[in-house]
Amino acid sequence: MLIKKPFAVKPSEITDRSVYMNRRKFMQTTSGFFLAGISSLVTAKTSEQQQGAGLAKLDYQATAAYSTDEEKTPYQHVTQYNNFYEFGTDKYSPAHEAQSLTTRPWSVTVEGEVAKPGTYTLEDILKPHALEERIYRLRCVERWSMVIPWIGFPLADLIKRFEPTSRAKYVEFTTLHRPEEMPGQKRRVLDWPYVEGLRMDEAMHPLTIMAVGLYGEVLPNQNGAPMRLVVPWKYGFKSIKSIVKIRFTEQQPVSAWTRTAPHEYGFYANVNPGVDHPRWSQARERRLGEFLKRKTLLFNGYADEVASLYTGMDLSKNY
Ligand code: MTE
Repeated sequence: MLIKKPFAVKPSEITDRSVYMNRRKFMQTTSGFFLAGISSLVTAKTSEQQQGAGLAKLDYQATAAYSTDEEKTPYQHVTQYNNFYEFGTDKYSPAHEAQSLTTRPWSVTVEGEVAKPGTYTLEDILKPHALEERIYRLRCVERWSMVIPWIGFPLADLIKRFEPTSRAKYVEFTTLHRPEEMPGQKRRVLDWPYVEGLRMDEAMHPLTIMAVGLYGEVLPNQNGAPMRLVVPWKYGFKSIKSIVKIRFTEQQPVSAWTRTAPHEYGFYANVNPGVDHPRWSQARERRLGEFLKRKTLLFNGYADEVASLYTGMDLSKNY
């Protein structure tokens, strides 16, 4: 996200590694005769890639109303190409470094403008909620995207249980801070712990979910176990992982990214092809597993559902 200057970014970081490696292999073995062959080569999938890794299975219902019918990104990309700075700043470290994270017991502290503050165990949190599968796009600010079958429940249903007061205008989320299990936190690449926030109406929007699984199984640690946010119309960094605190506030929260680089990462972070990141264009993106780039859609393709939340706002200023 931050830190690296453009010249320090390797092509293998912008292009998914398997795409990059396949492409090199292709170039080496065929001298590149058929361009069309590239895309079929890189999108070829085995049936195992479409399944989970044998983690605990979840009971859930598929919710077609909110899901895209686009092709799902293979499990191996979803779980091996991650941003989780608590486990390193490159995309491949979280898949192995996060295996040391203990996710049980787990509890979440609820504070601020609510009638029912307290510390809730993960079991308390999950018990009343029926799980749904939502197939959503996730678009990273770094120009890659995926289509992921998340398992979770509407964040609104959880928020209502805590009974926010009329002064609650925003919700702030905080990730676990445990440097002994999260080696990235020993380096000050961010002002730990990772914090993110939403306006109350964004948090209550039916598209916003608390995810506890993907591909039918519990979340792998590297994807934010045991519980993470998914806000599909915002850049991926808003979808905070491994949440331990939810705080309701009257003031707009300051996220970890905004605190570190306010000119690059604003509070809203709505996916917007018309507003460039200061160091790169956001007009296009690479879907992991594909070779050719595609156009980025306003609000990541969810404009019909969410554009009305921002009526009258200048989205180039409120980025
Ligand atoms: N949450 C925490 N706690 N730490 C992080 O570094 N990275 C964010 C977001 N949530 C991040 C985080 C970014 S930049 C992205 S793109 C998504 O997680 C990536 O989610 P994924 O690894 O499940 O694809």
